[in-house]
Amino acid sequence: MANAATQSNVRRLKDMGVRVLPPAEGFLAEGYTAVGRMPDLDVIQLFVDTYQAKQPLAGKQVLVSAGGTQERIDPVRYIGNDSSGKMGTAVANAAAAAGADVTLVATKMLPVLPAVDAVYVTSAAEMHDAMLANFEGADLVVMAAAVADFRPTTVSGNKIKKQSGDDALHLDLVQNPDILAEMGAQKSHQYLVGFAAETNDLVANAQAKLERKGADMIVANPVGYGQGFNTDTDTVTILRPDQAPLALDEAAKTEVASTIVRLAAMAM
Ligand code: C5P
Repeated sequence: MANAATQSNVRRLKDMGVRVLPPAEGFLAEGYTAVGRMPDLDVIQLFVDTYQAKQPLAGKQVLVSAGGTQERIDPVRYIGNDSSGKMGTAVANAAAAAGADVTLVATKMLPVLPAVDAVYVTSAAEMHDAMLANFEGADLVVMAAAVADFRPTTVSGNKIKKQSGDDALHLDLVQNPDILAEMGAQKSHQYLVGFAAETNDLVANAQAKLERKGADMIVANPVGYGQGFNTDTDTVTILRPDQAPLALDEAAKTEVASTIVRLAAMAM
């Protein structure tokens, strides 16, 4: 792909008006890892859809968060969670396929369409700053990230060692800002979508979040061992103010993402 002849041919095609989906990075038939692999079929499908389907989000700015945050304990350890970033990235790609300019603030690097501008962060604090910096200009915001509720009060400069005679380690934690709630309190024209990952009382807990966080939509999904996090499918219930809960059948995250984007576009 990096070869000058290939680059010049690709440029020529683009000059002729041909739309080019860049290849993905990965292990190549030549026996080494580089940019040059065929992108995932999902990504190809969305790329084609981008130029064929109706584009309800044309001209709109969409801001999406994805993945689980990492809260540093010391130089080699952090507090994290099982979020893979698949749902948030699928939402970003679905919004791009619907014609939007998308900013994705993510803790995981997954393939995105060319219209998605990806910003990589690790901690909740970094995600907070990146989301708020892009909030004012956004028309639709989807907080799909699993943001850690707490972070260590101080980060140890050196690797924490076992202490002889003490078999417990006490970590002092402080609450992180709630990004979604902050945006809910600040919003003017933005349509705000949050997620609620719940192990119990799914709809009741998600309904409370809809109100508490000032969101226009909460996507509730059951999580637990082998469910929700790091899977390719999801079974979600969509909650909106003054509307009956919409329970969707289990579907691929890419499909759920398209439904979320379609419903949000209809309400904007
Ligand atoms: O309260 P809970 O973490 O379950 O709420 C989930 C929703 O709130 C998600 O949309 C998540 O991205 C968002 N959230 C946030 N900032 C936090 C915690 C959660 O924006 N500190």
